[in-house]
Amino acid sequence: MLSNKRILVGITGGIAAYKSAEIVRSLRHEGAEVRVIMTKAAKEFISPLTLQALSGNRVHSELINADAEAGMGHIELAKWADIVLIAPATANFIADMTCGKADSLLGSVNLATNAHILIAPAMNQAMWKSAANQTNISHLERRGVQLIGPEEGPQACGDFGVGRMAQNTEIVKSVSEQFKVQTLRSKKVVITAGPTREAIDPVRYITNRSSGKMGYAMAEAAIDAGAHVTLISGPVAISSPERCYVINVETAHEMYKASLTACVGADVFIGAAAVADYRCETVSSKKIKRTADTITLNFKKNVDILTEIRRANKNLYLVGFAAETENIKENGYEKLRSKKLNAIVTNDVARADVGFDSDENEVYWMTQRSVTHINKKLKEKIARDLIANIANEIIAIS
Ligand code: PMT
Repeated sequence: MLSNKRILVGITGGIAAYKSAEIVRSLRHEGAEVRVIMTKAAKEFISPLTLQALSGNRVHSELINADAEAGMGHIELAKWADIVLIAPATANFIADMTCGKADSLLGSVNLATNAHILIAPAMNQAMWKSAANQTNISHLERRGVQLIGPEEGPQACGDFGVGRMAQNTEIVKSVSEQFKVQTLRSKKVVITAGPTREAIDPVRYITNRSSGKMGYAMAEAAIDAGAHVTLISGPVAISSPERCYVINVETAHEMYKASLTACVGADVFIGAAAVADYRCETVSSKKIKRTADTITLNFKKNVDILTEIRRANKNLYLVGFAAETENIKENGYEKLRSKKLNAIVTNDVARADVGFDSDENEVYWMTQRSVTHINKKLKEKIARDLIANIANEIIAIS
C-alpha cells in the first residue's frame, strides 16, 4: 500500500515518543520511504540514533543548521513529503501549529508543505479536554488537518481518560488510507449479506450456515473504494461496517423487497447473501406439538432476487455469488447466464476451510468473457480484489 510513498514523520516531546520508533518501522515495512523530524523536546524521550536506524535516513531537527540546509533544507523536506504525520503531537505543538509558529524545523515544514497533515495527539486527559486545546484542535480540523485518536485509557501519569496516542496499527492504517484509489467514488452500491430465515412456526425456522463475513467484507471494500453502500443483511453476529446504510431483514421476501427499493438509482448490486430458495407453504401460528412420529413440511419456491432485480434494472451492474459443492465453474456459469448477471463469484461450500463461516475464501471471478481464479486468502482481501474487478468492468463498459 505504501510502496514508494514518502512519509515525513514529525516527533514531538511527549512520553508516547517511544512508540514512534515502531510506527517508523511499520511504515518502512509497508514500503514507504520515511524521513524523521524531531523537536528538541522529542530528543529527551527517544534517541535520534534509533529513528535514524529505523528510517534508514539521517534524522532532521535543527532549523538553523548550514550542514542540514545544504543536505535537505526545510523547504525541500516540505516539498518531498507526500504525507506529514506528527506522532505524538503534544498540546504545546498543537498550539504552535494553530498559531502557525515557525521557530522549529517541524513548525516551518508544516507551514511550507502542501502535503496532507495527520496528527496523533498524546497528552494528559485534562490537557486534552481543556478549552484552549479543544479550540486549537477545531481550528486545525477546519484547516484540513486530520486527527488520529486520541484514545481513552490509563495514562503514564496515572490518570484515566481520553489523551493516549492512538494505537500504532491505527496510525499506520490512517496513513495508508490516504493513498487508496477510490475506484467506486460516488457509486451507489447495494450488497446483500448473511443468511435468511424462513419460519416454520413461532419458535422454529429454516436457515443456513452463512455468517455474513463475505458480504460484510464486500461492503467494507466498496466503502473504502469510495462507494455509497447500502447493506441488506440477514441475521448475523458480526458488527456492521461504519459509513454505510444497513437494512436488517429476516426472510427472503423481506430481502427481496428491501433490495428492490434500494436498487432505485443504484449502479451496482452484489448478491452475497445465502438466500433461502424455499419457504414453508404454511407457517403454523402455534408451536407444532411433539405428538406425531413424523411430520411433513411443504415448501414453496421463493422469488429469485437477482432475477427480479435484473428485470427491474436493465443497466445495473449485477454480481451474484454461487455457493457450489460440485462442478463449481460450470454451475456458476449457468447461474451467470440464467440470471442475466454481469459477473458471478463462485465458491466451493463443501470445503471446511473456505466458503461458509470461515475467515478465508477461494473463488472464481467469472464474466461472460473470462474466468479468473483468486487464491485462498482472507475474505477482506478477496473482497478487495473483487471490488477492483467490478470497478474495472464498470470503467470498461462506461
Ligand atoms: O456468509 P459467509 O459465512 O461469509 O459465507 C459466504 C457465502 C458462502 C454465503 C458467499 O460466499 C456465497 O456464496 N453467497 C451466495 C450463496 C447462495 O445463495 O448461493 P446460490 O448459488 O444458492 O445462489 C446464487 C445467487 O443467487 C446468489 O447471489 C444468491 O444471493 C442469489 N439468490 C439465491 C436465491 C434467491 N431466492 N434469490 C437470489 O437472488
